[in-house]
Amino acid sequence: MAKFIPEHIISEIQSSVDIVDVVSEVVILKKAGRNYFGLCPFHSDKDPSFSVSPEKRIFHCFGCGTGGDVFTFLMKLNGYSFPEAARILAARCGVRIPEQSLTPAQKRLIDEKTRLFKLNAMAADFFHHSLLNGVSGKNAMTYLNRRGFSEDIITRFKIGFAPEGWDNLLSFFYKKKAPLNYVEQAGLVVANKQGNGYYDRFRNRIMFPITNIAGSIIGFGGRVTDESLPKYLNTPETPVYNKSRSLYGIDAAKTKCRTNETVLIVEGYLDFLALYQAGSENTVATLGTALTNEHVRMLRGCIGANGKAILVYDSDLAGIKAAERSIAVFDRGHIDARILVLPAGHDPDSYIRKHGRDSFMRGADKAKNIIDFLTDMAVKKYGHSVEGKLRVLDAMIGPLSAIDDINKKSLYRKELAERLDIDESAILHKVRDRNGKKNDTRSWVSENGAMISASNGSGGYTDGETETAKAKFERRLIAMMLQFPAIIPEIENRRLPYFFENNLLKTLGNTILKYYADSEGHVAELLNGIQDERLRAMATSLAIDDRTWRYEDCLKLINQFESGIKYPEKNLSRKIKEAAAKGDDVKVIQLLAEKQKYVRNKAKKKCVRRR
Ligand code: UTP
Ligand code: MN
Repeated sequence: MAKFIPEHIISEIQSSVDIVDVVSEVVILKKAGRNYFGLCPFHSDKDPSFSVSPEKRIFHCFGCGTGGDVFTFLMKLNGYSFPEAARILAARCGVRIPEQSLTPAQKRLIDEKTRLFKLNAMAADFFHHSLLNGVSGKNAMTYLNRRGFSEDIITRFKIGFAPEGWDNLLSFFYKKKAPLNYVEQAGLVVANKQGNGYYDRFRNRIMFPITNIAGSIIGFGGRVTDESLPKYLNTPETPVYNKSRSLYGIDAAKTKCRTNETVLIVEGYLDFLALYQAGSENTVATLGTALTNEHVRMLRGCIGANGKAILVYDSDLAGIKAAERSIAVFDRGHIDARILVLPAGHDPDSYIRKHGRDSFMRGADKAKNIIDFLTDMAVKKYGHSVEGKLRVLDAMIGPLSAIDDINKKSLYRKELAERLDIDESAILHKVRDRNGKKNDTRSWVSENGAMISASNGSGGYTDGETETAKAKFERRLIAMMLQFPAIIPEIENRRLPYFFENNLLKTLGNTILKYYADSEGHVAELLNGIQDERLRAMATSLAIDDRTWRYEDCLKLINQFESGIKYPEKNLSRKIKEAAAKGDDVKVIQLLAEKQKYVRNKAKKKCVRRR
C-alpha cells in the first residue's frame, strides 16, 4: 500500500469510516444476518450478489469476484488512486493526512482532479455572479424568467452567464493568479492560434454547471440566448469530464431516484430543470449523447434492481431511434426501461408548462416498455392486414435479436405472436436467421439448411501436445463460436467456457464472448484484437475453416458437452469445511463464491433444458 501515507493514518481512516455508509451512496443495501446485500456496481448483476460486512470492513461480490476494503471500493468505483481514495475518506471522517508525507510527484497526481474541480467551481461562481449581478446578465436573466425558471432553481443549480467578449473569464482567472494552462485543461479557455495567449471558450451564453454524482463540478453546458448556432456548447473531454459517463443532475436526483426506484431520463438541460422545478426530482438529462452502458450502470446503482427508467422523447421518430439503440444497453444493465413520447412539438419543458406536471406524470406512469412501444409503432405504421403483419414482424426482428436474456426474449416472442396472431415458431426462425447474419456477411447456413459436419473440426490446431478428448470437444465449440456467431448468445447463457479444462481454449472462449458482448463486429476485428500471439494463431486457424453450421446441430453439440460436465460441488463443500476449521475467512469466502457460481450455472442450465 501507499508508503507515503503512514500506516497508522490508514488504519485510523479504516476504523472511522463506515463501509456500509460509503457503499450505500451508490448501492441500495439490505441487511440479512450480519451482512448487507445489494446489486454489484462492478458488473451487470441480476440478483443481489454483492455483500458488505460491516464487521470485517470488507465487501465482496459473489458474482464477479470483486472485493476488498473501503479504499478498494472507491478506487474501483471511481478510478481513484489509493491516495485519492484515502484523501476523500479522510475528509469524510475528519482524519488529517500529514501533507509532508506525500512526494511532489504523488501530490501532483492527486491534485490534478481536485484542481480541475476547483477551477470549475470558481468559474461557476463567476458565471453565476455575472448572471445575478452583471449588467450583461440582465438579458439572460430575463430570458430565463420568461421561460419560467425561478430564482430558487437558478440558485440551486448555480446557473450562470458567460458575458460577451473574449477575455472575461480569462481576466478573472488572471487576477486570481490561477495558472492558465490548468484553466485550459479544464476546457474553460482555449489557446489562440499564435500560441501566445488564451481566449474564453464560452461567450454570451447561459451556463449550466454539470456535476458528478458526488456534486463536484466537472464541466459546463452553455446555451445561446438567441437563434445563433451552435445552440449549446459543452465542455470538451477533460480528465474529469466525459459525456458518456456524465448525466446532468445526477447529484441532485440520486436520493429521489433511490426512494422512488424510478428515474426519468430527458434530453435537455432545460427539460431537467423544468421537471425538477415542478417537483419531479428523480430526473436526469443526457448531454447530447445516446445512453451508454456507463450511464445505465450508474443509474442502476441509484434505482436498484427493481427500479425502472423512463426515457422521455419529443417525437415518435426520436423515440423509435432511441428505443432501438438502447434495447441492448438496458438489457445488459438489467433495467426495466420504458419510453414516453410526448405529443408532437412538445419536449418535457414545454409540455409541463402547457399541461402541468400531473398530466405529464400520468403519461409517465403509462409509459410502455421498449418492445411494446416499438410494436405499437410498427402496427400503427403497417396496420393489421396480412401484408402489414409480415412487415411488423420484420420490423420487430432486429429489436428482439438485441435482447440477450433468453427468458425475456421468449416472453416477448410469445407476446408478439399473440398480438399478430401468428405461429410463434415463425418468429423464432426469423430471429435466428437474423442473429446468424448479424455478425458476418457470409451465410453460415447452406441453401438446404444442412450442416456439413460439426464433429471433426481439425481447425489446423497444432500444439505439439496430445489433446484430451475433452479439449478436443472444447476446440470444436470454439470453432463453432468463431464460424457461427449466431450461437454466441446460447454459449453465453450457458457460460460454457467456464467449464473448459484447457486454459488456452477457456481464455479464447471468454475473449470471444466478451468481444460479442461489446460489439456486433466482425470475426477479423475480433482476431486483430487478441494480443497473445499463440492465442491469436489458434483462433485464426479455427476461424478460417469454412464449414456450414445449422443452429439445431449446434444446440445438440452444446447439450452433449454439457451433459459431460461434472460439478465439483462436493469437493468444494469439503474444502470450505476445512478452511472454516482453520479459521481462514478469506479462503472461505473465495470457495463460497466458487460454489455459488456452480450452483447458479446448474440452475440456469436446468431452466434452459426445460424450455
Ligand atoms: P434541444 O435542441 O432539444 O434543446 O437539445 P433544449 O434542451 O430543448 O433547449 P431549449 O428548450 O431549446 O432551450 C437537447 C439537448 O441536446 C444537447 C443539449 O444537452 C440539449 O439540452 N445539445 C443540443 C447539444 O449538446 N448541442 C446542441 O447544439 C444542441
Ligand atoms: Mn426545449
